[in-house]
Amino acid sequence: MSSPPVSPSAAANLASARALESLLAFWSDAGVDTFYELQAKDRLSEGRQRLLARPSPALHPTPANPDDSPPHAAGPSPLAKPPPPPETLAAAETLAQSATTLEALSEAIAGFEGCPLKSQGARQAVFARGRQDARLMIIGEAPGAEEDIQGDPFVGRAGKLLDRMLAAAQLTDEVFITNSVFWRPPANRTPSPEEQMTCAPFVARAISLVQPQILLLLGGASAKFMLGRPEGILSLRGRWTTWTSPEGRDIPTLPSLHPAYLLRQPGAKKQAWSDLLAIRQRLDQGL
Ligand code: URA
Repeated sequence: MSSPPVSPSAAANLASARALESLLAFWSDAGVDTFYELQAKDRLSEGRQRLLARPSPALHPTPANPDDSPPHAAGPSPLAKPPPPPETLAAAETLAQSATTLEALSEAIAGFEGCPLKSQGARQAVFARGRQDARLMIIGEAPGAEEDIQGDPFVGRAGKLLDRMLAAAQLTDEVFITNSVFWRPPANRTPSPEEQMTCAPFVARAISLVQPQILLLLGGASAKFMLGRPEGILSLRGRWTTWTSPEGRDIPTLPSLHPAYLLRQPGAKKQAWSDLLAIRQRLDQGL
């Protein structure tokens, strides 16, 4: 049987494909099932760069020290998820700004249709609990299962631990507690930056209405989003920084460990405790 004529370059390609196939079969027979590149790639850092390449969130931190500023990627990455549509952000902003009390803000959030989490199985919006004139505002990540049922933030196991720690630091009567998003993410996954961006105008409005003297950011998802920082919570925690409100007020801000993390890693409680004591001391000193 004669074969069809092939060009010299196609023949070369075919030969090298066969050679490669044969080489792979040889390695496979020898038990090799994984290939590594010679040069290690830092995939975590690539992920961080992609996040940084997105438009910055509506919430603006002021780095404590300009030398601490995160590195900025050159431009938007094609792999980055699209930010929320501008009309969704504009609707959130308008609704949030039109609320002149925390009750009105709570109603505005409950009626807001723009956050994708609302249609992903959440029972209700979970806004806030605590004093409306609190000196300390705590911002967690997202409501969990128990919060979704009860409609209040931090009322599950992690919330109970948080309450015990606040009581021990004599901070119970000082706090207003909310989250970076107001609907429970499916299967308690971490809220995405896009979801946080959609809820950000409401978070910023809550800060403006409460006027806290200090912000405490619990957990990596809250701290990274609010501060626009790529580092993990273990390196951010315990380091004071400043968050600047849309009205230009600089609020001392402390990232700390999430109580759900402390339930898994009780040995880390001493770090979270020292963060609460630092806050207690600052409030006692009138800042
Ligand atoms: N974890 C959070 O971050 N917030 C809650 O409200 C509950 C658990």
